[in-house]
Amino acid sequence: MSEPVIFMEDVRKIYSMGEQEVHALRGISFSVEQGEFMSIMGPSGSGKSTCMNMIGCLDRPTSGIVKIGGRETAKMTEKKLAELRNKTIGFVFQQYHLLPTMTVLENVMVPLRYQGIERALRRDMALSALEKVGLSDRINHLPNELSGGQKQRVAIARATVTKPAIILADEPTGALDSATGKAVLELFGEINSTGTTIVIVTHDPGIGASTRRCVRILDGMIQGDEKR
Ligand SMILES: Nc1ncnc2c1ncn2[C@@H]1O[C@H](COP(=O)(O)OP(=O)(O)O)[C@@H](O)[C@H]1O
Ligand SMILES: [Mg+2]
Repeated sequence: MSEPVIFMEDVRKIYSMGEQEVHALRGISFSVEQGEFMSIMGPSGSGKSTCMNMIGCLDRPTSGIVKIGGRETAKMTEKKLAELRNKTIGFVFQQYHLLPTMTVLENVMVPLRYQGIERALRRDMALSALEKVGLSDRINHLPNELSGGQKQRVAIARATVTKPAIILADEPTGALDSATGKAVLELFGEINSTGTTIVIVTHDPGIGASTRRCVRILDGMIQGDEKR
């Protein structure tokens, strides 16, 4: 079998807050093959976002091994890590994190800037990503002129425009009504069918049940890993 796209071994994260230590991750190990569609599910405070931050190289573990695309992240400089993140991972958040003063099209073009792609091509790539999420008729709108579901589609277009190996989504349907959330999940399914690895972090058992694999996390430890 080829190398997993995500590899975590005995990953621990301790947040120090003055005298107090919070053990957010207490020895997490799992690996994800390219093309998997999985959720990481657990109640609030169980360590899901911390785990996502480790996979996404947004923060470093206190100990343990994190390999993304076969590369061990511990030895990488911040600059190399930022490069790896930009090339390999697309992020989707509950609150969309769109830039409010930029149009839909400009928001989707942002990640391509860091790849040194010329403007005309950036525009074409962003238009194509927006077409895939069904928003070709909203490209000149500002984020606050869109519904929640449309904002999340823009965020998904922005996450996919660089053609990353992995999409990491933290509670992507958390701010949406159930029908809109379901449509967003279906969109992730479509993206997955083209070979992109999808990892959705959620407290929602309904989402956990809808992905092909579900890793359950509780108190910073893995409780179960179901594949179906
Ligand atoms: N930056 C931080 N500093 C201190 N404690 C944190 C920080 N981030 C998270 N925690 C704590 O770590 C634990 C796990 O948090 P988190 O990963 O956000 O859980 P979840 O996403 O499952 O709700 C919680 O007890 C939380 O309070
Ligand atoms: Mg969280």
